[in-house]
Amino acid sequence: MAPHTEQLTRPAVSLRGLTRSFEGRTVLDGIDLDLPAGQFTALLGHSGSGKSTLLRAIAGLDHKVAGSGELSAPQRVSVVFQDSRLLPWRRVLDNVLLGTNGKDAADRGRAALAEVGLKGRERAWPSELSGGEAQRAALARSLVREPELLLADEPFGALDALTRIRMHGLLRRLWQHHRPSVLLVTHDVDEAIVLADRVLVLDNGRIGLDLTIDRPHPRSHRDPLLGEYRERLLAALGVTEDLA
Ligand SMILES: Nc1ncnc2c1ncn2[C@@H]1O[C@H](COP(=O)(O)OP(=O)(O)O)[C@@H](O)[C@H]1O
Ligand SMILES: [Mg+2]
Repeated sequence: MAPHTEQLTRPAVSLRGLTRSFEGRTVLDGIDLDLPAGQFTALLGHSGSGKSTLLRAIAGLDHKVAGSGELSAPQRVSVVFQDSRLLPWRRVLDNVLLGTNGKDAADRGRAALAEVGLKGRERAWPSELSGGEAQRAALARSLVREPELLLADEPFGALDALTRIRMHGLLRRLWQHHRPSVLLVTHDVDEAIVLADRVLVLDNGRIGLDLTIDRPHPRSHRDPLLGEYRERLLAALGVTEDLA
């Protein structure tokens, strides 16, 4: 039987009039948004603009927050934060396997660690990992569940510049291989335009700009056409570059 067209085209994430507020202060102000299945989207915004609030709402991690609106998201969602959140008393592989089961779980965990470049570190303790390695382990832990949606909240924000560039390549490769929908929260315009095929700017509780970045991958910061996207995004963020 032919699959339902509706199922093929149904967005992975759908928000209608999503509102969230803290102590009477509105942070998300009626957001309408669809994220198609398999799309790599970045969400930009100033500090305090509500990026994490939106991500937590989509992740279903905000039961105590006041709000309204409609939200639908896939069943299998993984979340990666700036801090790897590995349990220090469990070895790396055991961290990756936390909450998974099935008799091939350990094999899948080892495969996920190999995929993020941590083959041979299965029995290491989290304290023995560098910041970049810990984030690799966090990515392995998120992927072992084969998520339909990967939510990442400034996952590279605490890493040095070189490590961050390597992590960009890794995240893009992982996405190509597994094809989850990705929502990457970042305040780094360059990170957004190098990685994402669509960039949203959160401003005053709404999506102020929704930009499709139609350039091939892997992308280079030197691509002059990316420069045009950068300028539009900076303008939407209210940043002017001519400080000289
Ligand atoms: N649990 C909370 N209680 C009260 N205020 C909060 C809470 N979480 C976030 N806020 C407020 O909501 C606003 C948006 O926060 P957040 O979503 O973390 O912003 P971003 O991730 O874009 O930096 C900020 O003003 C923040 O202080
Ligand atoms: Mg945040």
